[in-house]
Amino acid sequence: MKVGFLQFAPEFKSPEINLTKIEKLISSIEADGLVLPELATTGYAFESKEELLPFAESIPGPTTERLTKLAQSKGIWLVVGIAERDGTAIYNSSIFISKDGKLSKYRKIHLFDYEKLIFAPGNLFFQAVEVGDTQSTKLGLLICFDWIFPESARTLALKGAQIICHSANLVLPYCQLAMQTRAIENRVFIITANRTGKERTLKFTGNSQVVSPKGEVLLKANTFEECVKVVDIDPAQALDKNITARNNIIIDRRPEFYF
Ligand code: ACM
Repeated sequence: MKVGFLQFAPEFKSPEINLTKIEKLISSIEADGLVLPELATTGYAFESKEELLPFAESIPGPTTERLTKLAQSKGIWLVVGIAERDGTAIYNSSIFISKDGKLSKYRKIHLFDYEKLIFAPGNLFFQAVEVGDTQSTKLGLLICFDWIFPESARTLALKGAQIICHSANLVLPYCQLAMQTRAIENRVFIITANRTGKERTLKFTGNSQVVSPKGEVLLKANTFEECVKVVDIDPAQALDKNITARNNIIIDRRPEFYF
């Protein structure tokens, strides 16, 4: 399966410009699936809910319809971070769109810093979703700061996710390294799609990557580039949870001692 990430610097408060750029960057790419950054169509550094409200959309809505058309016309699955409006609440959400246009969503559970003043905390369970290929490969969605809670990736792995699709707007320097450990401890692939550039006082760290279940960095962007990068992986590798003949990282857990 050819998978990868799109790394770019979204234009703040400019969904039309960002969607056009996404379409252009993807137009010449051959891939099965791509992960895009958190809040890829709106930008990130909103200071209040009122400021973000005009840019937040329902799911499905005009942005997901346009991304669905892109997925279907390219025959590619997409994971994209968007600002979701539901009634009076705004969620920092991520959507999965299958090659044939099926949509599912995740709402960021662990909000970072200022996000707590803007977004409602996610209220949907972590879930593994079927990509729709012949091997019944399963994906799990994570958003940025969810990474610092090992329970997030663990829950997705326990639910059967083989590829964790991690849409991010990272500002702290630790995540990319930590994701190698998250991949090893859960024996899953992890695609972190980060953004580049600056917004207000925030500087984003780029360095998007694809990591294997053994923690190898299979693919990496630098701090600044706007790019789409793709690598061939075998998701079946993530079904093997044995680290030695006698150690299975799922079966050997002792949850009765974890509290
Ligand atoms: C973050 O969660 N966007 C740092």
